[in-house]
Amino acid sequence: MDGRGDNGVAAMLDIGPATAFRTRMSPAADERLSGALSMLVESLGTLAASLNLSRQELRSIIGFLTEVGEACSDQRQEWVLLADTLGLSTTVERLSVRRPSGATPNTVPGPFYRPDAPKRVDGDTISIDGKGEALTICLTVNDLDGLPVPEAVVEVWQANSEGLYENQEPDLQPEYNLRGQFRTGTSGQLTIRSVRPVGYAIPADGPVGRLLGRLGIRLDRPAHIHFRISAPGFQRLTTHVFDRADPALAHDPLFAVHSALVTDFIPGPDRTWTTAFRFVLARARPGEEVV
Ligand SMILES: [Fe+2]
Repeated sequence: MDGRGDNGVAAMLDIGPATAFRTRMSPAADERLSGALSMLVESLGTLAASLNLSRQELRSIIGFLTEVGEACSDQRQEWVLLADTLGLSTTVERLSVRRPSGATPNTVPGPFYRPDAPKRVDGDTISIDGKGEALTICLTVNDLDGLPVPEAVVEVWQANSEGLYENQEPDLQPEYNLRGQFRTGTSGQLTIRSVRPVGYAIPADGPVGRLLGRLGIRLDRPAHIHFRISAPGFQRLTTHVFDRADPALAHDPLFAVHSALVTDFIPGPDRTWTTAFRFVLARARPGEEVV
């Protein structure tokens, strides 16, 4: 065939994959999907060309992605860990939840949240086994005008003094240890008794942990306490509060640390600690999804 009288097929054979991929998709294809795949094919081509990617390197990449899939089970989601540690989860969280200036930043909930934590009242402890250094958390829930938010449901969950959540070691910790669900009163304030958490490392024994290890990226997360706060008329807030004294603050592998989410744990007598934190909720616009 000399390229004449073939309805342009010969010319189409010499274009690059990105253009070819785009032109081959059906005009009836889902617009969002076709747009995303066009960008993906183009970006992959640009990346490979920029790196002058070799065949052996491509095989290594495919091998790594195969290992990520094989590491997944009912108990483990290595793909989520990959998305988290490449910053994709935090980026999507920030795109999905845009908070006005002054409102407490949202973060990813992490993998250890349980929606069914036991209901507690102001002043209760969430430490069922009593192990660890006592920590008193004094929190306030305000709106953007500084007014108290009453009737806010405050869910809290954290790791213990060894950096482990109760659902990571169900044979060693009582169920629902270090979890609770509280409700603010008219003052918007609550006191929660707990134990001081310590940080923990993300899994090092899978392909994602090994990859980060090869890059010299630290896997330890700074000590933190998770909160989810829901109140009628407000956007739901899911966030962490971090211990300012933890040196891992500067290299959280999940990119969740924000300067507005750091607090001081103040020492008291007999290795007890107190911390205070003010959460600021943003009002939901009429009809707006509150998550
Ligand atoms: Fe956590």
